[in-house]
Amino acid sequence: MGRSAKAVATSGAASSLAREEGPAEELPAPRPLLKWVGGKTQLLEQMQPFLPKTFQRYFEPFVGGAALFFDLRTRRPDMPAFLSDVNAELVNCYVAVRDDVESVIRALRCHRYESEYYYEVRAQNPVDLSPPERAARTIFLNKTGYNGLYRVNRSGQFNVPFGRFTKPLFCDVGNLHACSRALRDVSIEHGDFSGVLELAKKGDFVYFDPPYVPVSPTSDFTAYIPGGFGAAEQEKLAEVFRRLAKRGVHVLLSNSDTVEVRRLYAGFEIERVYASRSVNSNAARRGKLAEVVVRSRKAS
Ligand SMILES: C[S@@+](CC[C@H](N)C(=O)[O-])C[C@H]1O[C@@H](n2cnc3c(N)ncnc32)[C@H](O)[C@@H]1O
Repeated sequence: MGRSAKAVATSGAASSLAREEGPAEELPAPRPLLKWVGGKTQLLEQMQPFLPKTFQRYFEPFVGGAALFFDLRTRRPDMPAFLSDVNAELVNCYVAVRDDVESVIRALRCHRYESEYYYEVRAQNPVDLSPPERAARTIFLNKTGYNGLYRVNRSGQFNVPFGRFTKPLFCDVGNLHACSRALRDVSIEHGDFSGVLELAKKGDFVYFDPPYVPVSPTSDFTAYIPGGFGAAEQEKLAEVFRRLAKRGVHVLLSNSDTVEVRRLYAGFEIERVYASRSVNSNAARRGKLAEVVVRSRKAS
C-alpha cells in the first residue's frame, strides 16, 4: 500500500497522480464543482423561460451542485447571491473554494484515484481536517465515488462505494478558479431552507430545488442528511413558498411531477419539464422523468 490518506492529504506536496486541467489564467465559464443528484445542468435551457427577467438578489436555499447559480452568475457577474444548504460538507466546500482556492487545489493534488486509498479518505473524520483539506476530500470523494452520490449512514458517515471511471478529473484547476471567482462576495451559509424567510424581500428571486417527493416507494434518493426530507418538510416548504410569493418575491421551485406536488402548489403556475435521471435503483425506471417547475408569478 502507498502513503496513507492522512499523510497524503496533509503533506501539501504536489503529486503527479491527480489528473489536472488548466491553465487557470484564461478562466472558463464556471461549471458545478460537484456532481449532485438532482443537479440542474441538463435542465438549464428548459428553465430559462421561467426565470424572472429582472430581480434584485438571488437566493438558493437547497444549493446542492448550484447549477442554476453558476449559470446565472456567468450572465450577471454582479448579482448579489445567498446560497445555503443543510449539508455541512457541501457548505464548507463552497466557502473554502471561495476563500482559499489555492489551498484546496494543493490538497486535491495529493489525492489519487485508487480503490484502497479512496476507502482511507472516506474513513477520515472531516472535522479533523483543515477547511481546504476537508473541501478537497469532498471533491475527491464526489468525483471518484459511485455515481457522484452523496449518502451517509445513521451516524452521518459518508458511505458511498468507490466508483469505476477512466481517469476521473478531480483536480480541474481552471474550473476551480472559475468557481472561486463566481463565488466571490457570495453569502454561503449552513442552515435550513426556512432561513430564507428572514432575508428575501419583494423583488428578490428565490429558487427552491428540494429533495423531491418520491414518485414511487423505491425511488427515494434523498438521503443527503440523516432524517431525510419527508412529507412534513414538503408541507413546510409549500408554506414558505406561499409566504414569499405573497411578499412579492419571485419564487421558482422544482420537484417531481406527482399528485402530491400538484396539490401542494395548487393555484400557482405549474409547468412540466423532462430530465434524464440515471440514479434509480430500478434500472427499468432510468430514463426521462417528468418534473415540474412551479412559479409564483409570470416572468417580468
Ligand atoms: C436536489 S438537491 C439540489 C440540487 C441542486 N439544485 C443542483 O443543481 O445540483 C437538494 C439539496 O437540498 C439539501 N437539503 C436537504 N434538506 C434541506 C433542508 N431542510 N434545508 C436546506 N437544504 C436541504 C440537500 O443537502 C441537497 O443538497
